[in-house]
Amino acid sequence: MFHRTARVTEHVQLAERTFRVRVECPEVAGAIRPGQFVMLRLPGTTDPLLGRPFALYDTVLDASGTPVALDVVYLVVGKMTGRLASVEPGQKLEVWGPLGKPFLDVGTPERVALVAGGIGQTPFLAYARELLGTRGFGGDAPRQRTGKVSLYYGVRTAALAAGVDDFRAAGVEVHLASDDGSTGTKGYVTQLLASHGKTGPLVGCGPEPMLHALAKVAAAWEVPCQVSLETPMACGVGICFSCVAKVTTPDGWDYKRVCVDGPAFDAAQLVWG
Ligand SMILES: Cc1cc2nc3c(=O)[nH]c(=O)nc-3n(C[C@H](O)[C@H](O)[C@H](O)COP(=O)(O)OP(=O)(O)OC[C@H]3O[C@@H](n4cnc5c(N)ncnc54)[C@H](O)[C@@H]3O)c2cc1C
Ligand code: FES
Repeated sequence: MFHRTARVTEHVQLAERTFRVRVECPEVAGAIRPGQFVMLRLPGTTDPLLGRPFALYDTVLDASGTPVALDVVYLVVGKMTGRLASVEPGQKLEVWGPLGKPFLDVGTPERVALVAGGIGQTPFLAYARELLGTRGFGGDAPRQRTGKVSLYYGVRTAALAAGVDDFRAAGVEVHLASDDGSTGTKGYVTQLLASHGKTGPLVGCGPEPMLHALAKVAAAWEVPCQVSLETPMACGVGICFSCVAKVTTPDGWDYKRVCVDGPAFDAAQLVWG
C-alpha cells in the first residue's frame, strides 16, 4: 500500500453533483486492480478528519503505456465530497491504496453483466477494460476474459447518469433505467436486467436494496453473482471494524470487514438485512 500527497491534474463535472477527479499517483495507478479502492483525504484539515473510500474508475497511461494517474468519479453527498468538489487542478489530495481485494474471478464466460445503481457504476469502467482485455492492471499484460460486457445502469433521473460515454467508448453495451423514465427504461435496473433474460455472471454495485434484488435474480437464474459493497468506512485497512458485513459460514454466520475481505463478496454468501 502506498500513502502519498498527490497533485490533482484534472477535475471535471460529468453529471449533476458528479465529478471526475484525476490524481497524479504513479505508484497506486501501477499497482491497483479493478474492484480495489483508494482512500482520499483533504490535506491540511481535520474537518473531516478521516479519509473516504472511492473505487478505481480508471487508470491514466502516459505515451509509453505506463500508469501515471488515477481517476475517481464521485457524487457529492456530504462533508468530504462537498469540499472535494471545490479542489482545483494543481492542489493536492492525500491518497492511500490500493485497498481491498480485486473483483472475484469470473472465469472466461461468453458475457458478463455489470449492474449498477446510483453511483455504483464507478468500479466498472476499469473492470470492463480488464474483462475485454483492452487494459492490463497491477503490472499484468492485458488478457481477454469475455467477449461481451453489458452495463445495466439505473439512476433516479437522467441528469445523474455519469460516464455513459466512457463505457460506450470502452466497448461496453449500455442499458439505462431511470426511476422517472427520463432516460432509458422507466423502473428499477434489476427489472430491466430481468426483462432481458438470463445472462452470464452478474456483478453488482449500488444501494443495498438493489444488490439484494440482484442477488434474488441471480439465485433464480442460478448464475454466479458478486456484489461490491459501499459500506461507510473509517480506517480502510482492517483495524476499526466499522465496515463489517454479515456472511454465512459453515457454522452459521460471521462478520467480514468490507475494507480488507471485500469490497466484493459472493452475493449468495451475504446475509441480507
Ligand atoms: C469501497 C467503497 C467504494 C466507494 N466508491 C465510491 C465512488 O467511486 N464514488 C462515490 O461517489 N462514492 C463512493 N463510495 C462512497 C463514498 O465513500 C461516500 O459517498 C463518501 O464517504 C461520503 O463522504 P462525505 O464526507 O461526502 O459524506 P458524509 O458527510 O460522511 O456523509 C453524508 C451522508 O451520506 C451517508 N453516507 C456516507 N457514506 C455512505 C455510504 N457509503 N453509503 C450510504 N450512505 C453513506 C451518511 O450516512 C450521511 O447521511 C464508496 C464507498 C466504499 C466503501
Ligand atoms: S474500515 Fe476499519 S476495519 Fe474496515
